[in-house]
Formats: sequence, structure tokens, C-alpha cells
Amino acid sequence: MAKPRYPRIPPRKSSSSTVVLSMLLMFSFVVLVLLALGLLSIPSHSGDSPRANDLSTIVQRTVEKSDGNDGKAEPWSEVISWEPRAFVYHNFLSKDECEYLIKLAKPHMHKSTVVDSSTGKSKDSRVRTSSGTFLTRGQDKIIRGIEKRLADFTFLPVEHGEGLQILHYEVGQKYEPHYDYFLDDYNTKNGGQRMATVLMYLSDVEEGGETVFPAAKGNFSSVPWWDELSECGKEGLSVKPKMGDALLFWSMKPDASLDPSSLHGGCPVIKGNKWSSTKWIRVNEYKI
Ligand SMILES: *[C@@H]1O[C@H](CO)[C@@H](O)[C@H](O)[C@H]1NC(C)=O
Repeated sequence: MAKPRYPRIPPRKSSSSTVVLSMLLMFSFVVLVLLALGLLSIPSHSGDSPRANDLSTIVQRTVEKSDGNDGKAEPWSEVISWEPRAFVYHNFLSKDECEYLIKLAKPHMHKSTVVDSSTGKSKDSRVRTSSGTFLTRGQDKIIRGIEKRLADFTFLPVEHGEGLQILHYEVGQKYEPHYDYFLDDYNTKNGGQRMATVLMYLSDVEEGGETVFPAAKGNFSSVPWWDELSECGKEGLSVKPKMGDALLFWSMKPDASLDPSSLHGGCPVIKGNKWSSTKWIRVNEYKI
């Protein structure tokens, strides 16, 4: 009796999966080709991509992100400039934190000084007419919270920061444009050079009091808030003081050379009162 002979090797039931596999392979190949073409086409079409210094590309937020149900304003950040490297973190501090810092500093305010570049010592000056005081790094729980948040924002360690400085500018008071980095050895002994600065605004200012960068590259008249700036504010790229906002800028380029475009000043207050807090951050640990 002849048994029907079945092939030892079962019929290729895998034929359907082979089709699927080869289709997958084909698909991947097509995707790769498309990717390659896509990548090749980018540099050849730079016409409509924004230029590095085109400030008109600054995010224009028309929605006033303020006071939600819980009274906490929503934080958001934007790039203000690449030369100097400057960023604004809106609603960085709560209203309570701003009021706390002012209350803490108020009994200790004295006339601000500047650093004499030849001796490295502090001196009185007409270029800086505000009053101010220094807090101690980590001096209480609220300060530690703010300093931790600053470290998160800047990616620089808390230990590299000087103590917070609180400043008060009344009508007519200002700080002429200057650099935050030092040109003497005396002031860089502890912590090395100042690398970055965070300026926090503790109050709104009705008119004037802008932070101005007169050496900023780019068309600074294209900022959305141009029409609200004072004469002084129109002499460069300006940031208007707003309670709770934090302005971060770098005095050094990414290669650690000093950045002359970080020149900045505090415009005279025209109407109202300006309270601000400064955190200077060093290249190395700053010992307190
Ligand atoms: C700068 O921006 C302003 C406002 O957007 C514009 O009117 C002016 O033409 C610009 N200037 C240059 C040199 O691009």
C-alpha cells in the first residue's frame, strides 16, 4: 500500500511572514531614503529659517499668564538674546517670596558701592545710586528654596553663588552700564570669575528702571515691548521689571572667555519704586 508521501520538510507556511518581513524591509528602506532626502534639503533652503540674532522671533505671549485660582502665576521662560546669552524666567518668585525678601532687607539697606578696578576695594560712586544689602547664602528655609530653584534654572551649583543682594532704586536712581566680571585679582580669589547673573525683580515699576544691554547684537527695537520703554531703555536690548520675573544672563561665553556683550545697566526709575535681587554665580565654589 502506497502511503501518500508527505515531504519531510513541512510546506513553507512561513511564506506569509516572509512577505511581511520583506515589506517591512522595503518600508524601512523607503523611510531611510526619504530621511536622507529630507536631511539634504534643509541646508539648501535656509531662506525662511530665523536668523540667530533676529529678535522678532522672540515668543510673543499675548495671554497674560497671571493669577490663576490659587493666586499662583504660571512660570514660563523665553530666550531674550543670544549675544549676550540672556533668558527671562517669568514668575520665578511668588509674590510672597518677593515681599519676604524686601521685608528681610529693609532694615539693613545702605548706599550701594562699586568695585574699584585698580584696588579691588569697594568705593562710593555716582554711576550707582541705589541702596542695598547682602543676605547670607542659605540663611533660612525660604532663601534656601530660592537658591535651589536658581541652581535648577542655571544648571550651576548653589555653592557657586554669592549671597543674594537686595537692591532698592527710587525715582532717578540708576546703575550705569557695566560688566559683572572682574578685571582684578583681588575679587576673583574666592570662587574665581563671575560667570552668570540672575536678576530677580521684586516689584513692578510704573515707568523706567529697565535692565538695558547696550552692546546686545541684533535688532533690539523689534522686541514686542519696545513702545513701553523709557529713553534709556531704548539704548539697547531692554527687559522691563516685573514682580517675580528672573533675568539670567551670562558674563562668559561657552568657551569661558569674557563676553563684552554682557554690558548692562539699570535705567533710572521714572515713576514708582524698583526692588530687585541679584545672584552672582562664580566659576568655582564661593566660600561663605
Ligand atoms: C528693526 O525692527 C523694527 C521693528 O520690527 C523694524 O521697523 C526695523 O526696520 C528693523 N531694523 C532693521 C535694521 O532690520
